[in-house]
Amino acid sequence: MNYPERLENVAVLGAAGKMGSGIVLLTALEMADLSLDPANRDKEFTLHAVDVSPTALKGLVSYLREQALKAAEKKAVALRKAYAHREDLVLNSDIIRQYVQDVMDIVHPTTHLSDTFGSTIVFEAASENPALKVKLFSEIRAHGHPDVWIFTNTSSIPISELDRKAELSGRIIGFHFYNPPAVQKLVELASGGTTRQELKDFSAAFAKRIRKVVVPSSDTAGFIGNGHFMRDLLHAIAEAGRLTAEGHSFVEAVYMINKVSQEYLVRPMGIFQLIDYVGLDVCQCILKVMDDRIPGELLHSALIDELLAKGVRGGQFPDGSQRDGFLQYVKGRPSGVLDPESLAYTPVDSLAATCDVKLGATPASMISWKAALASANSDQSIAAFYADVRKTGTLAADIATRYGKRSCEIGRKLVADGVAANDEDVNRLLLTGFFHAYGPINSYF
Ligand SMILES: NC(=O)c1ccc[n+]([C@@H]2O[C@H](COP(=O)([O-])OP(=O)(O)OC[C@H]3O[C@@H](n4cnc5c(N)ncnc54)[C@H](O)[C@@H]3O)[C@@H](O)[C@H]2O)c1
Repeated sequence: MNYPERLENVAVLGAAGKMGSGIVLLTALEMADLSLDPANRDKEFTLHAVDVSPTALKGLVSYLREQALKAAEKKAVALRKAYAHREDLVLNSDIIRQYVQDVMDIVHPTTHLSDTFGSTIVFEAASENPALKVKLFSEIRAHGHPDVWIFTNTSSIPISELDRKAELSGRIIGFHFYNPPAVQKLVELASGGTTRQELKDFSAAFAKRIRKVVVPSSDTAGFIGNGHFMRDLLHAIAEAGRLTAEGHSFVEAVYMINKVSQEYLVRPMGIFQLIDYVGLDVCQCILKVMDDRIPGELLHSALIDELLAKGVRGGQFPDGSQRDGFLQYVKGRPSGVLDPESLAYTPVDSLAATCDVKLGATPASMISWKAALASANSDQSIAAFYADVRKTGTLAADIATRYGKRSCEIGRKLVADGVAANDEDVNRLLLTGFFHAYGPINSYF
């Protein structure tokens, strides 16, 4: 089966979820583009968008229509050439409308797994539950196409384990999109020891066609991305405990660490905001998968367990707005910090008044994350900023230095353990997948 033949009949599981909807969009656009190639005119491209939630599937259809329209408008010139054989399409608006219709005709929303049994590629983005994934893959293996390939979006579960438990004989690969898949440039690619070479070759070709940057990871629970993020998160929580033991209140500690991990580490958001964005439930689940599979290291947070037991979840509401977690949000911006005992939020404004004094004066050379990304020589500016930070001896400097050192240590361990092939892959992953302004493996700290 060549590349377009392989993509003639595709399924996406968990199609209406955060990741699944983006994967449906990217894949349907690629299939629509292939269908416009004269060499493929005899082929019929079909994508089964499978989800257990019929309501969410309705939302998927509106999302796809909107996004396909945007994609069509962006490539109107190329589409005019592709539809040159269609004399009935005269105006740009005719061409755009036709392309959107072609994309929508490819996608078949369904709640039935059995609709995927003719698919030769199944992208899986169902919930991060090892037992659920194994069950879905086993059913597909038993009833599906004899040469089906599975591309799982798992954030943490080793591919070889899924392969063994679902008896897929190497017909599975970890094709880990980042959130949101349509926007994020990164795909983290993890092969199990038995993953077939044809899947690896196809993955490289597909990633290139949909313009993604690929970073390979070894088949270790959490891979590189969550291997760094989960340990980084545990460091932040441990630091909150340390600051509390030093006499700061818990809400002050969370405020200060969140602020320093954003502003001093030059990151797009503070660590507690990132935990809330991903969702405390998702973090707990990834930590559990890693903790169960990585010996000799405690990858667990009693605090996250406690907050989830009390109903604090973070993540997003169905309309995409941010749910409260460690932080409270107004119009997407942190407005309060949670006290785990009373579950009340202390307003950020009242914390800023005392905590910013405790953190100490910020060096004038501080560079914002946006400015660092926009600057051609941000390395020099960042190095100068950290040189100034070291001289201040403030509480913020201490938190930032400990944080930066730990992040670097985590990155180096990922390389030493063979999870990442080299320092550059760790740095590239954090730069492209987490939008850090510099890689964790550096000599700043
Ligand atoms: N959210 C992220 O930031 C992110 C990033 C990278 C990878 N991932 C991974 O992607 C996968 C999906 O995560 P998500 O955040 O999109 O989750 P999500 O909860 O938004 O979506 C999961 C979807 O799967 C559907 N589903 C559940 N059981 C199903 C079944 N039996 N058959 C078909 N559909 C089913 C749900 O209805 C839901 O629509 C997980 O493996 C996760 O670890 C998530």
